[in-house]
Amino acid sequence: MAFPKCGSTWMQEILWNMIHNPNFDNPQAKTPILLRAPDISQDMLHDGEEIDNMEVSAFEALFRKVVPEKDPKDGMFLEILNKMEGRRVFKSHLPLCLMTPGLLDKAKVVYVARNPKDVLVSFYHYGRVLKLYKFSGTLDEYINDCMKDDVVYMPFWPYVKQAWQQRHHPNMLFVFYEDMKADIMKELRRVNTFIGTNLTKQQLENIAKYTSFSAMKSRGDPLDTPENKTELHQDEPVLIRKGQVGDWKNFFSPELDAKVNKWIEENTKDTDITFNYGN
Ligand code: A3P
Repeated sequence: MAFPKCGSTWMQEILWNMIHNPNFDNPQAKTPILLRAPDISQDMLHDGEEIDNMEVSAFEALFRKVVPEKDPKDGMFLEILNKMEGRRVFKSHLPLCLMTPGLLDKAKVVYVARNPKDVLVSFYHYGRVLKLYKFSGTLDEYINDCMKDDVVYMPFWPYVKQAWQQRHHPNMLFVFYEDMKADIMKELRRVNTFIGTNLTKQQLENIAKYTSFSAMKSRGDPLDTPENKTELHQDEPVLIRKGQVGDWKNFFSPELDAKVNKWIEENTKDTDITFNYGN
């Protein structure tokens, strides 16, 4: 689970491979990650007809194959998950309060958090490139809309605060994107213990390599199809963009930084979570 742009695709790939492909011999690995580990929150973007401006043919083909008795208009992603067998990996871009009550009693949750400044920059790029959002304004305008909770998936704070409150729950593993960037082996060892996969040091090293930014980028961005992107941004990546800590410094003016700092300050008064913004 994660707010969008916090590294959820990276974690999806890590979890699926640790569980289903620790020796890299599972032929399913070639299927796009979004089909191997469905994002059930995508169903909320469904307006009853189609996902606006989204290329969903791959999902629809899978849905029609595995759930022929149901209508895709009533939602596809949760249904696809319902039909999956064995140990399932799935993603949700919803806060805990919008998930099934008692989720943590039934499932293991790996929550990925990231510093909000890098999230906003990454989200802005996503909003410009993806036809689904088609945002054509400036970064300042996008961030203002985000801070007013006027962008889909916002508000940001309940996600991270609700998960942070549950961080000691035995079925919750709270991970920071910045810690994954700083020492991926350390975080993989935590995941290994948490999900009980018992992978060896060598297997974890292989997973680290296979899910590195460059390796994932070279295998292809799962949403990067011409149909998904606005005409102006056909050459830009969608999900696997830069993968750095502190990229916000390349984009924030001092005025924007002051505004965002105020927003962060106001929203973190009642929590002891702190973020790494990159030095
Ligand atoms: P940037 O836009 O800052 O580059 P999500 O998958 O939750 O939407 O998050 C997307 C962010 O995670 C993007 O951040 C993307 O580049 C980064 N990301 C994806 N795969 C990664 C990887 N293997 N290593 C590091 N960062 C990765």
